[in-house]
Amino acid sequence: MRRKLAAGNWKMNGLRAQLAEIDAMQEAASGGAEVLICPPTTLLTEAVARAGHIEIGGQDCHAQASGAHTGDVSAAMLADTGASYVILGHSERRTDHDEHDDEVRAKCKSAWEAGLKAVVCVGETLAEREASNTLDIIGGQLAGSIPDGATGHNLVVAYEPVWAIGTGKVPTTDQIGEVHDFIRARLERRFGAGVGRSVRLLYGGSVKPANAAEIFAVSNVDGALVGGASLKAADFVPIIEALNGASDG
Ligand code: PGA
Repeated sequence: MRRKLAAGNWKMNGLRAQLAEIDAMQEAASGGAEVLICPPTTLLTEAVARAGHIEIGGQDCHAQASGAHTGDVSAAMLADTGASYVILGHSERRTDHDEHDDEVRAKCKSAWEAGLKAVVCVGETLAEREASNTLDIIGGQLAGSIPDGATGHNLVVAYEPVWAIGTGKVPTTDQIGEVHDFIRARLERRFGAGVGRSVRLLYGGSVKPANAAEIFAVSNVDGALVGGASLKAADFVPIIEALNGASDG
């Protein structure tokens, strides 16, 4: 049985006043689905202090535990704040920081060594989808970005089509289902049926209160990775509640 997961990625948004939104999410977060908020690094310690029912995570980490890497943050440092998750390989990291699968895999290993759970992101661009390369791209990213040693406890995979992030464009439920079924099959083939079936698969890209329930009804969708709509409790709470409802069913 996979526990549903509503994950919020605040990206580079939020000063300390933003943390009040976490308080306003608490009640919904006690309803069955797991809730994760990944605030900017500057807010981690304070977010953990008021986390309540909510898990707190980072948005990236360095592959090494410490060293001469100005401006970077290690997995051990994230764990030291009390964070329990880290998002890795988000398409904005892959694009803005030229991160490739090898680096994401190294970061994932480092996250696991620090005791963090990794939310590894994969997703195709619009050009790749239009060229009918979606499953090849996703298969390559899965193989390259996830180290050996994955379990249902230490790994979550987020399918985030690049063209759906922050655009208001959402794939059809058939398109989401096709990719999620494919990811499930690949994980089962590589890690065995037990592990493959226990890893949670999130959909991400323009998830909003209005489309959440429909997306959560798709097979092999165990929750969502939400950007813009996770910043305000007024938007994220209905998404969490849609997932709580899906947990009951
Ligand atoms: P969005 O972002 O919900 O704002 O589209 C999703 C993400 O990048 O994780």
